[in-house]
Amino acid sequence: MNETISRQIKMIRLMKPLILLLGLILLVACQTPEAVPTAVPVVDAPVSTPVPVAATNTPEPVATDEPDILPYQDPALPIDERVEDLLDRMTLDEKIGQMTLIENGSIRPEGVTEFNLGAILSGGGGSPPENSPQAWLEMVTAYQEAALETRLGIPLLYGVDAVHGHSNVVGATIFPHNIGLGATRNPDLLYEIGRVTAVETLATGIHWDYAPVLAVARDIRWGRTYEAYAEETDLVTLLSNAYLLGLQGVDGSTSDLGHPLTLLGTPKHWVADGGTGWETSTTGSYKIDQGDTILDEETLRAVHIPPYITAVDSGARSMMISYSSWNGLKMHAHDYLINDVLIGEIGFEGFIVSDWQAIDQITSNYYEAVVTSINAGVDLNMVPFDTSGFINAMKRAIRNGDISQERVDQAVTNILTVKMELGLFENPLQDDSLLETVGSDEHRAVARQAVAESLVLLQNDNEALPVSKDVDRIFIGGQYGDDIGLQSGGWTIEWQGASGEITEGTTFLEATEAAVSEETEVYFNRFGKFETVTDENGDPLRADVGFVLLGERPYAEGRGDREDLSINSTMIERMREQADVVVVILVTGRPLIITDELPLADAWVAAWWPGTEGNGITDVLFGDQDFSGKLSFSWPRSMDQIPFNFEEMPTEGCDAPLFPFGYGLTYQNNSPVESLDCN
Ligand code: GLC
Repeated sequence: MNETISRQIKMIRLMKPLILLLGLILLVACQTPEAVPTAVPVVDAPVSTPVPVAATNTPEPVATDEPDILPYQDPALPIDERVEDLLDRMTLDEKIGQMTLIENGSIRPEGVTEFNLGAILSGGGGSPPENSPQAWLEMVTAYQEAALETRLGIPLLYGVDAVHGHSNVVGATIFPHNIGLGATRNPDLLYEIGRVTAVETLATGIHWDYAPVLAVARDIRWGRTYEAYAEETDLVTLLSNAYLLGLQGVDGSTSDLGHPLTLLGTPKHWVADGGTGWETSTTGSYKIDQGDTILDEETLRAVHIPPYITAVDSGARSMMISYSSWNGLKMHAHDYLINDVLIGEIGFEGFIVSDWQAIDQITSNYYEAVVTSINAGVDLNMVPFDTSGFINAMKRAIRNGDISQERVDQAVTNILTVKMELGLFENPLQDDSLLETVGSDEHRAVARQAVAESLVLLQNDNEALPVSKDVDRIFIGGQYGDDIGLQSGGWTIEWQGASGEITEGTTFLEATEAAVSEETEVYFNRFGKFETVTDENGDPLRADVGFVLLGERPYAEGRGDREDLSINSTMIERMREQADVVVVILVTGRPLIITDELPLADAWVAAWWPGTEGNGITDVLFGDQDFSGKLSFSWPRSMDQIPFNFEEMPTEGCDAPLFPFGYGLTYQNNSPVESLDCN
């Protein structure tokens, strides 16, 4: 070591105490609140270094208990400024957490805090252990409070399929499914249904509804036919838009997500989920659900896209992607139809959510599936089970540059913007003040009217209908006549629905007993057997009117894919022997094949799956109100006609439907279609 260096070392040793003293003074000087960033959770090296949380220009530290309102927390500031401020403060973990949607059965509230989750959902049947409105509110509140515990306190978005009322919740008002509402052709009614559904859903603390379905359903073998309003584009557009405005607004024509009685709708499933072909599905035992829509782009644009254009114009701020494919490419991987068409061309600016574990269907390589789907435009992944799996895939993709930081920031911006538009930052928690509205008489009255307007009179020979309330005796045959679960169909309390007294409502039997005179005798038998109804001599008594209720047991999604839609006529023939007039009521999710059975009964009524208010049926059948329903689906003569060729639909002869789109008799106008012998 040479002399010069030795001298330098001595100098340093002499100055050392001075340097230490100077450093100490500087350290003390720097300990003012404005200069020290808050400790960032050491979960992951933040890609964007968070700026100091309490950045102020106060020259002297001011002792105060009240935290300053930070820009992102200030409702007086424009939302884009608030979002930008918040985004700048977020770590990568926090950003990825906002893109993660987990189902409530897979994570406890503490997990929301741990993983900075942005959203939780209840899938079909995702109820708390006790299924009551109060218990739902407590469950959702626990998750929201956990979200507010996170470092930046970003509120949670809780989602649910309130698809015909808040239909997972016992005691909620449950409406006819969309196929029945399509028959009403009444947008004002759909708006009211949206309003009621919004209030009952908000009552449980939930601000996000995975509805309406915008499917233009073209093959009624599809298990989701009943979730569609119609087979026809304009009718789907008209009614889905009215319902969306009912969910998102209170003035009948515009969305107002900041209003305390509105919630976020989710037009779904983008796009052409109702156009898939039979046996094109690759999902388990499904035949057509989640299949492939094989169409030229011109037809896709003419038939399946218009309802979404209207929904965007009406303020849609969340959209769900379809499981299905278009010409062989999964919609969740469809950069062109999502980024270029939905966002670029149609101008959708909200956030895009995947369907339930749908990203996983893109490819067996989960990492690639995540990269493909997020880059195709999905902002929020309905994982819905493996929280860490998705988060780790996202971190890896960002580290590898397969998903850019800009893409993450855009997704999080979309999500945070909608949360702020909903007012969630100011009012994240719902009190119990709305609970009394759930299943209220006022709400049920709306559903009762919807049932009445959804009924379609297919045949009314011998003036069978309306039935007098003073008849002596009525037989009601078939389990669908006294079962609220069968009456409500799929997506009711359970994902697939269920039979039995699964919720509160009025069955057809109860409604009939309430409608007729005290002298009228009403008998019910689930098998339609009434031989035990006898006179004093033991001779069987006949009924003036025999109602036969036939139907489809509840189903949802691909479990309802069905190749043969024929019915069993045994109970009709049996009733014919026991009653002077026979009326068949169909409790189904779609048209069934009844051509050969029509002559067996005097009257036929399509009641679809009416929900909890069975008295809407008796209001019409006993003449308090006339029929007004018109078919929103062509009714096939035979399975050979399915799928119909909608571009060249025959309108007469044996190739025409049994009952065409728009058909429906009334008491005033009983001009049935020409009966043909087409066998
Ligand atoms: C389902 C359905 C979708 C629903 C989602 C959450 O699989 O496809 O319509 O919103 O999962 O339950």
